[in-house]
Amino acid sequence: MIEYDIVIVGGGGAGLYSALWTAENTILKVAVITKVYPTRSHTGAAEGGINAVLTHSVGDSPEAHAYDTVKGSDFLADQDAVDIMCKMGAAVIYDIAHRGVPFSRRPDGRIAQRPFGGASFPRTCYAADKTGFYILQTLYEQCLKNNVTFLNEWFLLSIIHNGERVEGITAWDIRNGGVHLIKTKAVILATGGHARVYWNRTSNALGNTGDGTAAVLRAGLPLKDMEFIQFHPTGLAKTGILVTEGARGEGGYLRNKEGERFMKRYAPEKMELAPRDIVARAIQTEIDEGRGCGPNGDYICLDLTHLGEEKINERLPQTREHAILYEGVDPVKEPIPIAPTAHYSMGGIDTDKLGRTPIKGLYAAGECACVSVHGANRLGGNSLLDVLVYGRLTALEAVKYADEAPETTPSLAKVKDDERRILELMESDGKEKIADLRKELGNVMMKHFGVFREESSMKEGLEKLYEIKERAKHIKVYDSSKKFNTDLITALEFLNLVDLAPAIAVPAIERKESRGAHARKDFPNRDDKNFLKHSVIKLKEDGSYELSWKPVVIKKFPPEERKY
Ligand code: FUM
Repeated sequence: MIEYDIVIVGGGGAGLYSALWTAENTILKVAVITKVYPTRSHTGAAEGGINAVLTHSVGDSPEAHAYDTVKGSDFLADQDAVDIMCKMGAAVIYDIAHRGVPFSRRPDGRIAQRPFGGASFPRTCYAADKTGFYILQTLYEQCLKNNVTFLNEWFLLSIIHNGERVEGITAWDIRNGGVHLIKTKAVILATGGHARVYWNRTSNALGNTGDGTAAVLRAGLPLKDMEFIQFHPTGLAKTGILVTEGARGEGGYLRNKEGERFMKRYAPEKMELAPRDIVARAIQTEIDEGRGCGPNGDYICLDLTHLGEEKINERLPQTREHAILYEGVDPVKEPIPIAPTAHYSMGGIDTDKLGRTPIKGLYAAGECACVSVHGANRLGGNSLLDVLVYGRLTALEAVKYADEAPETTPSLAKVKDDERRILELMESDGKEKIADLRKELGNVMMKHFGVFREESSMKEGLEKLYEIKERAKHIKVYDSSKKFNTDLITALEFLNLVDLAPAIAVPAIERKESRGAHARKDFPNRDDKNFLKHSVIKLKEDGSYELSWKPVVIKKFPPEERKY
Protein backbone atom coordinates (compact mmCIF):
# COMPACT_ATOMS: atom_id res chain seq x y z
CA MET A 1 0.00 0.00 0.00
CA ILE A 2 1.15 3.50 -0.90
CA GLU A 3 0.29 6.39 1.38
CA TYR A 4 -0.05 10.15 0.94
CA ASP A 5 -2.00 12.86 2.73
CA ILE A 6 -3.39 14.38 -0.46
CA VAL A 7 -3.58 12.75 -3.88
CA ILE A 8 -4.25 14.85 -6.96
CA VAL A 9 -5.43 12.82 -9.92
CA GLY A 10 -4.57 14.46 -13.24
CA GLY A 11 -1.55 16.37 -14.47
CA GLY A 12 -3.26 19.03 -16.60
CA GLY A 13 -3.78 22.67 -15.68
CA ALA A 14 -6.12 22.05 -12.72
CA GLY A 15 -3.99 19.21 -11.32
CA LEU A 16 -0.71 21.07 -11.65
CA TYR A 17 -2.02 24.32 -10.20
CA SER A 18 -3.54 22.35 -7.31
CA ALA A 19 -0.21 20.62 -6.80
CA LEU A 20 1.65 23.90 -6.78
CA TRP A 21 -0.69 25.49 -4.28
CA THR A 22 -0.61 22.46 -1.99
CA ALA A 23 3.19 22.23 -2.24
CA GLU A 24 3.53 25.86 -1.26
CA ASN A 25 1.00 25.75 1.55
CA THR A 26 1.63 22.56 3.43
CA ILE A 27 4.23 20.11 4.58
CA LEU A 28 1.76 17.27 4.11
CA LYS A 29 2.74 14.43 1.77
CA VAL A 30 1.21 15.19 -1.62
CA ALA A 31 1.40 13.32 -4.93
CA VAL A 32 0.03 13.84 -8.42
CA ILE A 33 -0.98 10.70 -10.28
CA THR A 34 -1.47 11.09 -14.00
CA LYS A 35 -2.06 8.66 -16.85
CA VAL A 36 -0.03 10.72 -19.31
CA TYR A 37 3.16 12.60 -18.78
CA PRO A 38 1.92 16.00 -17.46
CA THR A 39 3.09 18.12 -20.37
CA ARG A 40 1.01 15.93 -22.72
CA SER A 41 -2.22 16.80 -20.92
CA HIS A 42 -5.16 18.23 -22.86
CA THR A 43 -4.78 21.70 -21.28
CA GLY A 44 -2.06 22.09 -23.92
CA ALA A 45 -4.80 22.16 -26.55
CA ALA A 46 -6.60 25.19 -25.05
CA GLU A 47 -5.56 27.69 -27.64
CA GLY A 48 -7.22 31.09 -27.68
CA GLY A 49 -6.86 32.32 -24.15
CA ILE A 50 -8.05 32.86 -20.62
CA ASN A 51 -10.59 35.44 -19.49
CA ALA A 52 -9.90 37.89 -16.69
CA VAL A 53 -10.49 41.50 -15.88
CA LEU A 54 -7.07 43.06 -15.29
CA THR A 55 -6.10 46.40 -13.80
CA HIS A 56 -5.76 47.88 -17.30
CA SER A 57 -9.03 46.41 -18.69
CA VAL A 58 -10.61 49.85 -19.15
CA GLY A 59 -14.39 49.94 -18.63
CA ASP A 60 -14.56 46.24 -17.76
CA SER A 61 -15.29 44.80 -14.30
CA PRO A 62 -15.55 41.39 -12.60
CA GLU A 63 -19.27 42.07 -12.40
CA ALA A 64 -19.51 42.52 -16.20
CA HIS A 65 -17.51 39.30 -16.58
CA ALA A 66 -19.90 37.53 -14.20
CA TYR A 67 -22.93 38.83 -16.09
CA ASP A 68 -21.54 37.69 -19.46
CA THR A 69 -20.76 34.28 -17.96
CA VAL A 70 -24.24 33.84 -16.47
CA LYS A 71 -25.95 35.04 -19.65
CA GLY A 72 -23.68 32.79 -21.71
CA SER A 73 -24.62 29.87 -19.42
CA ASP A 74 -28.28 30.50 -20.29
CA PHE A 75 -28.77 31.27 -16.59
CA LEU A 76 -27.95 27.74 -15.41
CA ALA A 77 -24.59 28.63 -13.80
CA ASP A 78 -24.54 29.02 -10.01
CA GLN A 79 -24.01 32.70 -9.55
CA ASP A 80 -22.14 32.50 -6.22
CA ALA A 81 -19.51 30.31 -7.90
CA VAL A 82 -19.34 32.55 -10.99
CA ASP A 83 -18.78 35.53 -8.71
CA ILE A 84 -15.81 33.81 -7.05
CA MET A 85 -14.31 32.80 -10.40
CA CYS A 86 -14.59 36.24 -11.98
CA LYS A 87 -13.28 38.06 -8.91
CA MET A 88 -10.22 35.79 -8.76
CA GLY A 89 -9.37 36.28 -12.45
CA ALA A 90 -6.73 38.98 -12.07
CA ALA A 91 -5.07 37.18 -9.14
CA VAL A 92 -4.51 33.95 -11.07
CA ILE A 93 -3.36 35.73 -14.24
CA TYR A 94 -0.75 37.82 -12.43
CA ASP A 95 0.31 34.76 -10.44
CA ILE A 96 0.98 32.62 -13.50
CA ALA A 97 2.52 35.56 -15.40
CA HIS A 98 4.97 36.03 -12.53
CA ARG A 99 5.70 32.33 -12.57
CA GLY A 100 6.69 32.58 -16.22
CA VAL A 101 3.71 32.25 -18.61
CA PRO A 102 4.79 34.30 -21.67
CA PHE A 103 1.54 36.18 -22.34
CA SER A 104 1.35 38.21 -25.54
CA ARG A 105 1.82 41.88 -24.70
CA ARG A 106 0.48 45.23 -25.84
CA PRO A 107 3.01 47.81 -27.09
CA ASP A 108 3.05 49.33 -23.56
CA GLY A 109 4.16 45.97 -22.12
CA ARG A 110 0.89 45.10 -20.41
CA ILE A 111 -0.83 41.74 -20.99
CA ALA A 112 -2.76 41.85 -24.28
CA GLN A 113 -6.47 40.90 -24.34
CA ARG A 114 -8.55 39.91 -27.36
CA PRO A 115 -12.33 39.79 -27.91
CA PHE A 116 -13.97 36.37 -27.46
CA GLY A 117 -17.49 35.02 -27.91
CA GLY A 118 -20.26 36.34 -25.67
CA ALA A 119 -17.97 38.85 -23.92
CA SER A 120 -18.88 42.51 -23.65
CA PHE A 121 -15.20 43.57 -23.43
CA PRO A 122 -11.96 42.21 -24.88
CA ARG A 123 -10.87 40.30 -21.77
CA THR A 124 -9.23 37.16 -23.10
CA CYS A 125 -5.52 37.14 -22.18
CA TYR A 126 -3.50 35.04 -24.61
CA ALA A 127 -0.10 33.75 -25.60
CA ALA A 128 -0.52 33.77 -29.41
CA ASP A 129 -2.80 30.75 -30.02
CA LYS A 130 -0.98 28.37 -27.68
CA THR A 131 -2.13 29.76 -24.32
CA GLY A 132 -2.90 26.43 -22.65
CA PHE A 133 0.34 24.94 -23.91
CA TYR A 134 2.41 27.70 -22.28
CA ILE A 135 0.41 27.54 -19.05
CA LEU A 136 0.89 23.77 -18.85
CA GLN A 137 4.66 23.95 -19.44
CA THR A 138 5.10 26.76 -16.93
CA LEU A 139 3.06 25.05 -14.21
CA TYR A 140 4.96 21.79 -14.70
CA GLU A 141 8.32 23.55 -14.37
CA GLN A 142 7.06 25.28 -11.22
CA CYS A 143 5.92 21.94 -9.78
CA LEU A 144 9.37 20.47 -10.41
CA LYS A 145 10.95 23.50 -8.75
CA ASN A 146 8.74 22.86 -5.71
CA ASN A 147 9.61 19.15 -5.58
CA VAL A 148 6.08 17.94 -6.26
CA THR A 149 5.94 14.13 -6.34
CA PHE A 150 4.60 12.75 -9.62
CA LEU A 151 3.42 9.22 -10.27
CA ASN A 152 3.44 9.53 -14.04
CA GLU A 153 1.63 6.93 -16.12
CA TRP A 154 -0.70 5.69 -13.43
CA PHE A 155 -4.35 5.11 -14.31
CA LEU A 156 -7.15 5.84 -11.83
CA LEU A 157 -9.44 2.85 -11.30
CA SER A 158 -11.69 3.48 -8.28
CA ILE A 159 -12.43 5.87 -5.48
CA ILE A 160 -12.68 4.39 -2.01
CA HIS A 161 -15.02 6.05 0.48
CA ASN A 162 -17.09 4.94 3.43
CA GLY A 163 -20.19 6.91 2.54
CA GLU A 164 -18.99 9.84 4.60
CA ARG A 165 -15.36 10.49 3.74
CA VAL A 166 -12.78 9.49 1.20
CA GLU A 167 -10.24 6.85 2.21
CA GLY A 168 -8.13 6.31 -0.86
CA ILE A 169 -8.07 5.33 -4.49
CA THR A 170 -7.00 2.36 -6.53
CA ALA A 171 -4.82 2.82 -9.59
CA TRP A 172 -3.07 0.76 -12.24
CA ASP A 173 0.68 1.32 -12.64
CA ILE A 174 0.94 1.53 -16.44
CA ARG A 175 4.73 1.21 -16.54
CA ASN A 176 5.03 -1.90 -14.40
CA GLY A 177 1.51 -3.31 -14.25
CA GLY A 178 -0.50 -4.05 -11.12
CA VAL A 179 -3.38 -2.64 -9.13
CA HIS A 180 -2.31 -0.49 -6.18
CA LEU A 181 -4.15 0.85 -3.18
CA ILE A 182 -3.25 4.45 -2.44
CA LYS A 183 -4.35 5.43 1.02
CA THR A 184 -5.01 9.14 1.45
CA LYS A 185 -7.05 11.62 3.45
CA ALA A 186 -7.95 13.87 0.54
CA VAL A 187 -8.33 13.41 -3.20
CA ILE A 188 -8.56 16.17 -5.79
CA LEU A 189 -9.89 14.87 -9.09
CA ALA A 190 -8.60 16.92 -12.01
CA THR A 191 -9.05 14.34 -14.72
CA GLY A 192 -10.49 16.50 -17.52
CA GLY A 193 -13.56 16.14 -19.69
CA HIS A 194 -15.30 13.31 -21.50
CA ALA A 195 -16.10 14.70 -24.97
CA ARG A 196 -14.26 11.68 -26.44
CA VAL A 197 -17.63 9.96 -26.05
CA TYR A 198 -18.27 11.65 -29.45
CA TRP A 199 -15.40 9.54 -30.66
CA ASN A 200 -15.48 10.33 -34.37
CA ARG A 201 -15.73 14.12 -34.27
CA THR A 202 -14.17 15.91 -31.35
CA SER A 203 -11.45 18.42 -30.60
CA ASN A 204 -10.49 16.35 -27.56
CA ALA A 205 -7.30 14.41 -26.98
CA LEU A 206 -7.62 10.62 -27.21
CA GLY A 207 -7.31 10.46 -23.45
CA ASN A 208 -10.31 12.67 -22.61
CA THR A 209 -12.35 9.71 -21.50
CA GLY A 210 -13.78 11.06 -18.25
CA ASP A 211 -11.82 8.67 -16.05
CA GLY A 212 -12.41 10.59 -12.80
CA THR A 213 -16.02 11.34 -13.68
CA ALA A 214 -16.72 7.66 -14.42
CA ALA A 215 -14.98 6.56 -11.19
CA VAL A 216 -17.21 8.96 -9.24
CA LEU A 217 -20.29 7.60 -11.03
CA ARG A 218 -19.27 4.01 -10.22
CA ALA A 219 -18.67 5.03 -6.60
CA GLY A 220 -22.39 5.83 -6.37
CA LEU A 221 -21.78 9.59 -6.21
CA PRO A 222 -23.63 12.29 -8.15
CA LEU A 223 -22.79 13.88 -11.50
CA LYS A 224 -24.46 17.13 -12.48
CA ASP A 225 -25.77 18.67 -15.73
CA MET A 226 -24.32 15.87 -17.84
CA GLU A 227 -26.65 16.59 -20.77
CA PHE A 228 -24.70 19.74 -21.62
CA ILE A 229 -21.90 19.08 -24.10
CA GLN A 230 -20.39 22.00 -25.93
CA PHE A 231 -19.90 21.84 -29.68
CA HIS A 232 -17.13 24.23 -30.63
CA PRO A 233 -18.25 26.01 -33.80
CA THR A 234 -14.93 25.68 -35.58
CA GLY A 235 -13.37 22.24 -35.80
CA LEU A 236 -11.34 21.48 -38.91
CA ALA A 237 -13.78 19.87 -41.36
CA LYS A 238 -11.84 16.66 -41.94
CA THR A 239 -10.64 15.90 -38.41
CA GLY A 240 -12.54 17.98 -35.83
CA ILE A 241 -9.24 19.45 -34.60
CA LEU A 242 -9.84 22.81 -32.90
CA VAL A 243 -9.54 26.08 -34.78
CA THR A 244 -9.44 28.61 -31.99
CA GLU A 245 -12.19 31.09 -31.31
CA GLY A 246 -9.26 33.52 -31.26
CA ALA A 247 -9.41 33.36 -35.08
CA ARG A 248 -12.81 35.06 -34.93
CA GLY A 249 -11.62 37.21 -32.00
CA GLU A 250 -8.92 38.55 -34.30
CA GLY A 251 -11.56 39.39 -36.92
CA GLY A 252 -12.22 36.17 -38.88
CA TYR A 253 -15.51 35.82 -40.79
CA LEU A 254 -17.80 32.81 -41.20
CA ARG A 255 -19.18 32.45 -44.74
CA ASN A 256 -21.59 30.01 -46.36
CA LYS A 257 -21.43 28.77 -49.96
CA GLU A 258 -22.88 32.08 -51.20
CA GLY A 259 -20.01 33.88 -49.48
CA GLU A 260 -22.57 35.41 -47.09
CA ARG A 261 -21.61 36.31 -43.50
CA PHE A 262 -24.64 34.40 -42.30
CA MET A 263 -24.21 35.19 -38.60
CA LYS A 264 -26.08 38.45 -39.28
CA ARG A 265 -29.24 36.31 -39.39
CA TYR A 266 -28.55 34.59 -36.07
CA ALA A 267 -26.76 37.17 -33.88
CA PRO A 268 -26.91 40.54 -35.67
CA GLU A 269 -24.96 42.43 -33.03
CA LYS A 270 -22.24 39.98 -31.99
CA MET A 271 -22.03 38.20 -35.35
CA GLU A 272 -19.12 35.69 -35.29
CA LEU A 273 -18.51 36.51 -31.63
CA ALA A 274 -21.82 35.27 -30.30
CA PRO A 275 -21.48 32.49 -27.69
CA ARG A 276 -20.52 29.05 -28.95
CA ASP A 277 -23.92 27.39 -28.66
CA ILE A 278 -25.43 30.02 -30.94
CA VAL A 279 -22.61 29.98 -33.49
CA ALA A 280 -22.49 26.17 -33.59
CA ARG A 281 -26.26 26.00 -34.20
CA ALA A 282 -26.00 28.66 -36.92
CA ILE A 283 -23.27 26.71 -38.72
CA GLN A 284 -25.17 23.43 -38.40
CA THR A 285 -28.34 25.10 -39.71
CA GLU A 286 -26.51 26.51 -42.74
CA ILE A 287 -25.16 23.05 -43.49
CA ASP A 288 -28.51 21.29 -42.87
CA GLU A 289 -30.39 23.79 -45.07
CA GLY A 290 -28.07 23.32 -48.03
CA ARG A 291 -25.88 26.39 -47.72
CA GLY A 292 -22.75 24.49 -46.71
CA CYS A 293 -19.55 24.71 -48.75
CA GLY A 294 -17.58 22.12 -50.67
CA PRO A 295 -18.70 19.30 -52.99
CA ASN A 296 -20.86 17.73 -50.24
CA GLY A 297 -22.03 20.99 -48.67
CA ASP A 298 -20.87 19.69 -45.30
CA TYR A 299 -18.70 22.50 -44.02
CA ILE A 300 -18.57 26.30 -43.63
CA CYS A 301 -15.71 28.64 -44.49
CA LEU A 302 -13.74 30.49 -41.84
CA ASP A 303 -12.23 33.37 -43.75
CA LEU A 304 -9.07 34.95 -42.32
CA THR A 305 -7.61 36.16 -45.61
CA HIS A 306 -8.36 39.83 -44.87
CA LEU A 307 -6.29 39.69 -41.66
CA GLY A 308 -3.03 39.52 -43.60
CA GLU A 309 0.00 37.26 -43.21
CA GLU A 310 1.75 39.31 -40.56
CA LYS A 311 -1.19 39.28 -38.12
CA ILE A 312 -1.91 35.60 -38.77
CA ASN A 313 1.72 34.70 -38.12
CA GLU A 314 1.91 36.75 -34.97
CA ARG A 315 -1.46 35.95 -33.37
CA LEU A 316 -2.54 32.66 -34.96
CA PRO A 317 0.58 30.71 -35.91
CA GLN A 318 -0.72 27.33 -34.77
CA THR A 319 -4.03 27.87 -36.58
CA ARG A 320 -2.13 28.44 -39.81
CA GLU A 321 0.08 25.41 -39.19
CA HIS A 322 -2.90 23.13 -38.46
CA ALA A 323 -4.89 24.36 -41.48
CA ILE A 324 -1.96 23.67 -43.79
CA LEU A 325 -1.08 20.35 -42.20
CA TYR A 326 -4.53 18.81 -41.70
CA GLU A 327 -6.73 20.59 -44.22
CA GLY A 328 -4.27 21.45 -46.96
CA VAL A 329 -5.23 25.14 -47.02
CA ASP A 330 -3.16 28.19 -46.15
CA PRO A 331 -5.47 30.63 -44.31
CA VAL A 332 -3.39 33.55 -45.56
CA LYS A 333 -4.64 32.72 -49.06
CA GLU A 334 -7.94 30.84 -48.68
CA PRO A 335 -10.70 30.15 -46.13
CA ILE A 336 -10.46 27.22 -43.71
CA PRO A 337 -13.18 24.51 -43.99
CA ILE A 338 -14.77 24.09 -40.55
CA ALA A 339 -17.79 22.48 -38.86
CA PRO A 340 -18.90 22.04 -35.22
CA THR A 341 -16.89 19.56 -33.14
CA ALA A 342 -17.58 18.08 -29.68
CA HIS A 343 -15.35 20.15 -27.43
CA TYR A 344 -16.24 20.52 -23.77
CA SER A 345 -18.18 18.86 -20.96
CA MET A 346 -20.13 21.48 -19.04
CA GLY A 347 -21.44 18.72 -16.79
CA GLY A 348 -19.38 16.55 -14.49
CA ILE A 349 -18.73 15.72 -10.85
CA ASP A 350 -21.22 17.54 -8.65
CA THR A 351 -19.34 20.01 -6.46
CA ASP A 352 -20.21 23.11 -4.49
CA LYS A 353 -18.70 26.54 -5.02
CA LEU A 354 -15.43 25.47 -3.35
CA GLY A 355 -14.99 22.25 -5.33
CA ARG A 356 -16.27 20.01 -2.53
CA THR A 357 -18.28 16.87 -3.28
CA PRO A 358 -20.81 15.29 -0.89
CA ILE A 359 -17.97 13.05 0.36
CA LYS A 360 -15.58 14.72 2.82
CA GLY A 361 -12.05 14.99 1.49
CA LEU A 362 -13.11 14.39 -2.12
CA TYR A 363 -12.77 17.41 -4.40
CA ALA A 364 -12.95 18.00 -8.13
CA ALA A 365 -11.51 20.83 -10.21
CA GLY A 366 -11.35 21.79 -13.87
CA GLU A 367 -13.34 20.21 -16.66
CA CYS A 368 -14.24 17.04 -14.74
CA ALA A 369 -16.05 19.17 -12.16
CA CYS A 370 -19.44 20.79 -12.46
CA VAL A 371 -19.21 23.62 -9.94
CA SER A 372 -21.27 25.02 -11.84
CA VAL A 373 -19.63 28.08 -13.38
CA HIS A 374 -20.54 27.27 -17.00
CA GLY A 375 -24.17 26.19 -16.72
CA ALA A 376 -25.65 25.18 -20.04
CA ASN A 377 -22.99 26.80 -22.21
CA ARG A 378 -19.42 27.81 -21.37
CA LEU A 379 -17.93 31.00 -22.74
CA GLY A 380 -14.67 30.55 -24.61
CA GLY A 381 -11.72 31.51 -22.41
CA ASN A 382 -13.53 30.64 -19.17
CA SER A 383 -12.20 27.08 -19.12
CA LEU A 384 -8.58 27.94 -18.36
CA LEU A 385 -9.83 30.41 -15.76
CA ASP A 386 -11.99 27.74 -14.11
CA VAL A 387 -9.01 25.35 -14.18
CA LEU A 388 -6.76 27.80 -12.31
CA VAL A 389 -9.29 29.27 -9.89
CA TYR A 390 -10.64 25.88 -8.86
CA GLY A 391 -7.23 24.21 -8.98
CA ARG A 392 -6.14 26.71 -6.37
CA LEU A 393 -9.31 26.76 -4.26
CA THR A 394 -9.57 22.99 -4.03
CA ALA A 395 -5.88 22.81 -3.07
CA LEU A 396 -6.44 25.16 -0.16
CA GLU A 397 -9.60 23.31 0.88
CA ALA A 398 -7.86 19.95 0.71
CA VAL A 399 -4.91 21.20 2.76
CA LYS A 400 -7.26 22.53 5.45
CA TYR A 401 -9.17 19.25 5.52
CA ALA A 402 -6.20 16.88 5.39
CA ASP A 403 -4.39 18.79 8.12
CA GLU A 404 -7.10 17.88 10.61
CA ALA A 405 -8.59 14.69 9.20
CA PRO A 406 -8.07 11.46 11.17
CA GLU A 407 -6.19 8.51 9.65
CA THR A 408 -8.15 6.45 7.15
CA THR A 409 -8.37 2.67 6.97
CA PRO A 410 -9.42 1.85 3.41
CA SER A 411 -10.80 -1.59 2.84
CA LEU A 412 -9.04 -3.91 0.40
CA ALA A 413 -12.31 -4.82 -1.31
CA LYS A 414 -11.86 -2.35 -4.17
CA VAL A 415 -8.39 -3.68 -4.91
CA LYS A 416 -9.77 -7.18 -5.21
CA ASP A 417 -12.65 -5.91 -7.34
CA ASP A 418 -10.35 -4.05 -9.71
CA GLU A 419 -7.95 -6.98 -9.95
CA ARG A 420 -10.87 -9.23 -10.86
CA ARG A 421 -12.19 -6.69 -13.40
CA ILE A 422 -8.80 -6.51 -15.12
CA LEU A 423 -8.26 -10.26 -15.05
CA GLU A 424 -11.67 -10.78 -16.65
CA LEU A 425 -10.79 -8.35 -19.44
CA MET A 426 -7.51 -10.15 -20.07
CA GLU A 427 -8.97 -13.64 -19.95
CA SER A 428 -12.16 -12.85 -21.85
CA ASP A 429 -12.87 -14.82 -24.98
CA GLY A 430 -15.34 -12.12 -26.05
CA LYS A 431 -15.62 -11.33 -29.72
CA GLU A 432 -16.42 -7.60 -29.54
CA LYS A 433 -13.70 -5.27 -30.83
CA ILE A 434 -13.11 -2.04 -28.91
CA ALA A 435 -12.25 -0.09 -32.06
CA ASP A 436 -15.58 -0.98 -33.70
CA LEU A 437 -17.69 -0.41 -30.61
CA ARG A 438 -15.98 2.90 -29.92
CA LYS A 439 -16.82 4.10 -33.41
CA GLU A 440 -20.43 3.00 -32.94
CA LEU A 441 -20.61 4.81 -29.62
CA GLY A 442 -19.34 8.00 -31.27
CA ASN A 443 -21.85 7.68 -34.10
CA VAL A 444 -24.78 7.15 -31.73
CA MET A 445 -23.80 10.15 -29.63
CA MET A 446 -23.35 12.40 -32.66
CA LYS A 447 -26.53 11.27 -34.40
CA HIS A 448 -28.87 11.23 -31.40
CA PHE A 449 -27.26 13.71 -28.95
CA GLY A 450 -25.59 16.18 -31.31
CA VAL A 451 -26.01 19.92 -31.89
CA PHE A 452 -29.80 19.45 -32.29
CA ARG A 453 -31.81 16.87 -30.34
CA GLU A 454 -35.36 15.54 -30.14
CA GLU A 455 -37.22 13.02 -28.03
CA SER A 456 -37.83 10.09 -30.39
CA SER A 457 -34.29 10.18 -31.70
CA MET A 458 -32.78 10.45 -28.21
CA LYS A 459 -34.88 7.54 -26.93
CA GLU A 460 -33.71 5.43 -29.85
CA GLY A 461 -30.15 6.59 -29.10
CA LEU A 462 -30.42 5.60 -25.43
CA GLU A 463 -31.54 2.09 -26.38
CA LYS A 464 -28.48 1.83 -28.62
CA LEU A 465 -26.25 3.04 -25.77
CA TYR A 466 -27.60 0.31 -23.49
CA GLU A 467 -26.98 -2.25 -26.24
CA ILE A 468 -23.39 -1.01 -26.58
CA LYS A 469 -23.02 -1.26 -22.81
CA GLU A 470 -24.18 -4.86 -22.96
CA ARG A 471 -21.86 -5.70 -25.85
CA ALA A 472 -18.99 -3.99 -24.04
CA LYS A 473 -19.12 -6.87 -21.53
CA HIS A 474 -17.69 -9.03 -24.32
CA ILE A 475 -14.62 -7.03 -25.29
CA LYS A 476 -11.26 -8.69 -25.10
CA VAL A 477 -7.84 -7.31 -24.26
CA TYR A 478 -5.45 -9.08 -26.64
CA ASP A 479 -2.20 -8.02 -25.00
CA SER A 480 -1.67 -10.17 -21.92
CA SER A 481 1.52 -8.46 -20.74
CA LYS A 482 1.58 -6.28 -17.66
CA LYS A 483 4.07 -3.61 -18.67
CA PHE A 484 2.82 -0.70 -20.79
CA ASN A 485 -0.28 -2.60 -21.76
CA THR A 486 -1.92 0.13 -23.84
CA ASP A 487 -4.55 -2.37 -25.02
CA LEU A 488 -5.75 -2.65 -21.42
CA ILE A 489 -5.74 1.13 -20.91
CA THR A 490 -7.75 1.54 -24.13
CA ALA A 491 -10.30 -0.95 -22.77
CA LEU A 492 -10.57 0.79 -19.40
CA GLU A 493 -10.95 4.18 -21.06
CA PHE A 494 -13.61 2.84 -23.40
CA LEU A 495 -15.53 1.32 -20.50
CA ASN A 496 -15.49 4.71 -18.77
CA LEU A 497 -17.09 6.29 -21.85
CA VAL A 498 -19.66 3.49 -21.99
CA ASP A 499 -20.68 4.20 -18.37
CA LEU A 500 -20.85 7.94 -18.97
CA ALA A 501 -22.86 7.95 -22.21
CA PRO A 502 -26.26 7.08 -20.64
CA ALA A 503 -25.52 9.63 -17.91
CA ILE A 504 -25.57 12.21 -20.71
CA ALA A 505 -28.55 10.70 -22.52
CA VAL A 506 -30.97 10.22 -19.60
CA PRO A 507 -31.09 13.88 -18.46
CA ALA A 508 -31.00 15.03 -22.11
CA ILE A 509 -34.28 13.18 -22.70
CA GLU A 510 -35.87 14.46 -19.50
CA ARG A 511 -34.85 18.11 -19.95
CA LYS A 512 -37.79 19.06 -22.13
CA GLU A 513 -36.62 22.53 -23.07
CA SER A 514 -33.82 24.20 -25.03
CA ARG A 515 -31.12 25.82 -22.94
CA GLY A 516 -27.55 26.64 -23.96
CA ALA A 517 -25.94 23.70 -25.73
CA HIS A 518 -29.01 21.50 -25.23
CA ALA A 519 -31.09 22.46 -28.29
CA ARG A 520 -34.30 20.46 -28.72
CA LYS A 521 -36.25 20.70 -31.92
CA ASP A 522 -39.37 19.50 -30.10
CA PHE A 523 -38.99 22.03 -27.26
CA PRO A 524 -37.29 25.01 -28.94
CA ASN A 525 -37.72 27.45 -26.03
CA ARG A 526 -36.14 27.78 -22.62
CA ASP A 527 -38.58 26.85 -19.87
CA ASP A 528 -37.54 28.54 -16.63
CA LYS A 529 -40.74 27.55 -14.90
CA ASN A 530 -39.99 23.84 -15.12
CA PHE A 531 -36.28 23.51 -15.90
CA LEU A 532 -34.31 26.28 -14.26
CA LYS A 533 -32.60 23.53 -12.27
CA HIS A 534 -29.57 21.27 -12.37
CA SER A 535 -29.93 17.64 -13.30
CA VAL A 536 -28.22 15.18 -10.97
CA ILE A 537 -27.54 11.61 -12.02
CA LYS A 538 -26.32 8.57 -10.11
CA LEU A 539 -25.57 4.99 -11.08
CA LYS A 540 -27.42 2.51 -8.91
CA GLU A 541 -26.04 -0.86 -7.84
CA ASP A 542 -28.44 -2.63 -10.20
CA GLY A 543 -26.90 -0.71 -13.14
CA SER A 544 -29.79 1.72 -13.62
CA TYR A 545 -29.34 5.49 -13.82
CA GLU A 546 -31.28 7.56 -11.28
CA LEU A 547 -32.14 11.15 -12.18
CA SER A 548 -33.04 13.94 -9.78
CA TRP A 549 -32.88 17.74 -9.84
CA LYS A 550 -31.51 20.50 -7.66
CA PRO A 551 -31.91 24.27 -7.58
CA VAL A 552 -29.71 26.79 -9.36
CA VAL A 553 -28.11 29.54 -7.27
CA ILE A 554 -29.44 32.86 -8.56
CA LYS A 555 -28.02 36.05 -7.05
CA LYS A 556 -27.64 39.34 -8.95
CA PHE A 557 -28.77 38.30 -12.41
CA PRO A 558 -32.37 37.13 -12.84
CA PRO A 559 -33.00 35.09 -15.99
CA GLU A 560 -33.76 37.17 -19.06
CA GLU A 561 -34.03 36.60 -22.79
CA ARG A 562 -30.61 36.00 -24.32
CA LYS A 563 -30.00 38.35 -27.25
CA TYR A 564 -26.68 38.94 -29.03
O1 FUM B 1 -11.29 28.33 -29.15
C1 FUM B 1 -10.45 28.16 -28.27
O2 FUM B 1 -9.35 28.66 -28.30
C2 FUM B 1 -10.83 27.33 -27.13
C3 FUM B 1 -10.79 27.91 -25.94
C4 FUM B 1 -11.67 27.39 -24.89
O3 FUM B 1 -12.30 26.33 -25.08
O4 FUM B 1 -11.81 28.08 -23.86
